Formats: sequence, structure tokens, C-alpha cells
Amino acid sequence: MNEVLVYGHPALAIVACVGVVWVGFVGLRSRRKRPDAAASRIAHRAWAPRAWALVVLAAVGGPVSVVLLREDLEVTDSVHFWVGLGIAGLMTAGWATSRSPRAKAALWAAHPWIGMASMLGAIFALMLGLEMLP
Ligand code: HEM
Ligand code: HEM
Repeated sequence: MNEVLVYGHPALAIVACVGVVWVGFVGLRSRRKRPDAAASRIAHRAWAPRAWALVVLAAVGGPVSVVLLREDLEVTDSVHFWVGLGIAGLMTAGWATSRSPRAKAALWAAHPWIGMASMLGAIFALMLGLEMLP
């Protein structure tokens, strides 16, 4: 049973990483002066909270999986752990800055950069996570 469960976090987290990259892709596309910019903006607004939820689930599920299912690994003892927590923090900051009132221009301007960092982090976590598979 454990041999199957151990793939639960990686399976969910791959979807989360694809979600982050998709959300970032449509977010950045929404800024370009193209006919599909408005649709991209709507897609970004719709999918960003879902990607955030998946990332938080992955960040909680990863350590749980290490503690319960992986006798060969120590919890917190990997770069993947810190990168995973970092993405969860960045996506949460992305959410916070997206809701800032327009008056707080500096916070709003930071949003796409925080998002870009989340995207890079998700790709990095994926590469590191593949090396940790049983
Ligand atoms: C949103 C992206 C991700 C987050 C937030 C995340 C988070 C974490 C965390 C915090 C741990 C615990 C590590 C430790 O205590 O040393 C972990 C473990 C692990 N992660 Fe991820 N991770 C993500 C993506 C991935 C991906 C894409 C893969 C695989 C392709 C993956 C594979 C693993 C594996 C194999 C473990 C060990 C536990 C197990 O075998 O289930 N992770 N992850
Ligand atoms: C993958 C990471 C992300 C990237 C690369 C990204 C990028 C962007 C960009 C470029 C914009 C347009 C800003 C402008 O026009 O100046 C935007 C807007 C927005 N983002 Fe994000 N973002 C990310 C994550 C998030 C998250 C996690 C949330 C919330 C959960 C979010 C919510 C929003 C909202 C509500 C808007 C405004 C859309 C509108 O005006 O209708 N974004 N984002």
C-alpha cells in the first residue's frame, strides 16, 4: 500500500507545478496588447487561487509523506523542502499583492515579479522532486 501512497505527493505536486506555470503564462499574456488579453486576464483570476491551493496542499503533503512513508528520508533535510516552502510563501504573497488596493502601486508592481519567482521555483522544485522519487 505504502509503495503506491508514496506517489501521492509527487502526482499532486506535478499538477500544482503545471498550474503555477499556466497561471503565470496567462497572467503575463494578459498584459500584452492582443485580442485575447481580456480572456487571459479572466483565466488568470480564475485559476490563480486554485493553483495556490494545490501548492499549499503539496507543501503540507510533502513533509507528511516523508514522515509517514519514507524511512530513507529525514524531514526538512532537503533543498526541495526549502524550495517547496518558498513557493508556498511566494504564491501567498502573490495573492496578497493581487488584492492590494490600486493606490498601493509599489505592491501591485511587485505582483508579476513575485509570480515570476513562483514559476521559476515550481520548475526548480519539479527538478529536485524527480531526484527524490523512491
Ligand atoms: C508545488 C510544488 C511542490 C512543493 C510545495 C513540494 C513540497 C515538498 C516538501 C515540503 C517535501 C518534504 C521534503 C523534506 O521534508 O525533506 C516534499 C517531499 C517530496 N517531494 Fe515535493 N513539492 C513540490 C513538487 C514536487 C514534485 C513536482 C515532485 C516530483 C516530481 C515532488 C517529489 C517529492 C518527493 C518524491 C518527496 C519525498 C516524499 C514522497 O516520496 O512522497 N515534489 N515536497
Ligand atoms: C504564477 C504566478 C503569477 C504570475 C506570473 C502573475 C502575473 C500577473 C500579471 C502579469 C498580472 C497583470 C498585472 C498588470 O496588468 O500589471 C496579474 C494580475 C493579477 N493576478 Fe497574478 N500572477 C501570478 C500569481 C497570482 C496569484 C497566486 C494570484 C491570486 C491568488 C493572482 C491574482 C491576480 C489578480 C486578481 C490579478 C488582476 C487581474 C485583473 O486585473 O483582472 N496572481 N498577475
